[in-house]
Amino acid sequence: MKSLLARKVPSKAERYFSTGISMITSYSTKGPNVMTAEWVLQISYNPVLIAIFIHKGSQTLKNIEKTKEFGVNVASKEQTAQVSVAGGYSGFEIDKLNLKNIFKTLAPQKIKSPMISDCTINAECKLIRKEKLGDHVMLVGKVVQIKHDDTKSPLLYHSGRYFGLGSMVEPDRQEVLTDKDTLEFFRDLAQGRFVLKCAGVLVTSKNNVLVTKWPKTKLETIPFSIPPQGKNQREHLKKVIRKMRLDIQIAKESTMKRIVLKNGKDVQRINFVIFKGKNNSTKNNTWKSKQDDVIANLI
Ligand SMILES: Cc1cc2nc3c(=O)[nH]c(=O)nc-3n(C[C@H](O)[C@H](O)[C@H](O)COP(=O)(O)O)c2cc1C
Repeated sequence: MKSLLARKVPSKAERYFSTGISMITSYSTKGPNVMTAEWVLQISYNPVLIAIFIHKGSQTLKNIEKTKEFGVNVASKEQTAQVSVAGGYSGFEIDKLNLKNIFKTLAPQKIKSPMISDCTINAECKLIRKEKLGDHVMLVGKVVQIKHDDTKSPLLYHSGRYFGLGSMVEPDRQEVLTDKDTLEFFRDLAQGRFVLKCAGVLVTSKNNVLVTKWPKTKLETIPFSIPPQGKNQREHLKKVIRKMRLDIQIAKESTMKRIVLKNGKDVQRINFVIFKGKNNSTKNNTWKSKQDDVIANLI
């Protein structure tokens, strides 16, 4: 009781995180139990590991310490009543799972704790790590059985209130309307990738920008490369520039332009990391006006 009274009331900032909501199931010799937890996180793909953070006064922690297993039942947006009950009472106070018409359970496959029906995800976990961190205990479970229901939408938690998923938010990008050939050129380079990542060099002289012509196309662009993932973009660009036999010095600083090329319904997203360049010799180079559509958007 003393520890409950001593519990600090969370500040507004602490409550401003946004999380999902799960119901953690467990059991003891006295029977099964369920509690609500927002601090639940998948922390590895292979093996699939889930960390949950449980306070010391809970029956759930005691159960899991004994049985070394727990169920993670990620709540769907229809489950606010279940979540409020599982989070508002302790198993020390009432037998939550036995309340009439609140919880519907599912038989587990690989553990003994019951699972909760109508959730977005049900994961059965075996405890592999326990660590006291601050006023909670981190319990890491290895997932031994998992299923999800993609017809259900998750319940979210923010500022002490429950929410559903809102509309999807497209990351902010500058729109560039372009012709079909240009869009197809970049889409071929993207090879199905959602975002094409380019590194380019911008060499300017008065009102002009240095461009190179792409073989077999009408297209002229600033010199650029598509660095492989994990490779230093500036070093890769330097090599490509050398191969193009361009004598350009590339500055260290860069900016990033996030654009989306559009032609009718067709789109291609591009991230352009742009380095400023200095042209060491002007011979054999072509210059294009800064007013050109695609170029103007890169400056
Ligand atoms: C929305 C919500 C989120 C919660 N998240 C957590 C959490 O992440 N960790 C935790 O220890 N308690 C959390 N709680 C509190 C427990 O659910 C609560 O203390 C519960 O009564 C413990 O039950 P038990 O004693 O039967 O295990 C949360 C409660 C609510 C309502």
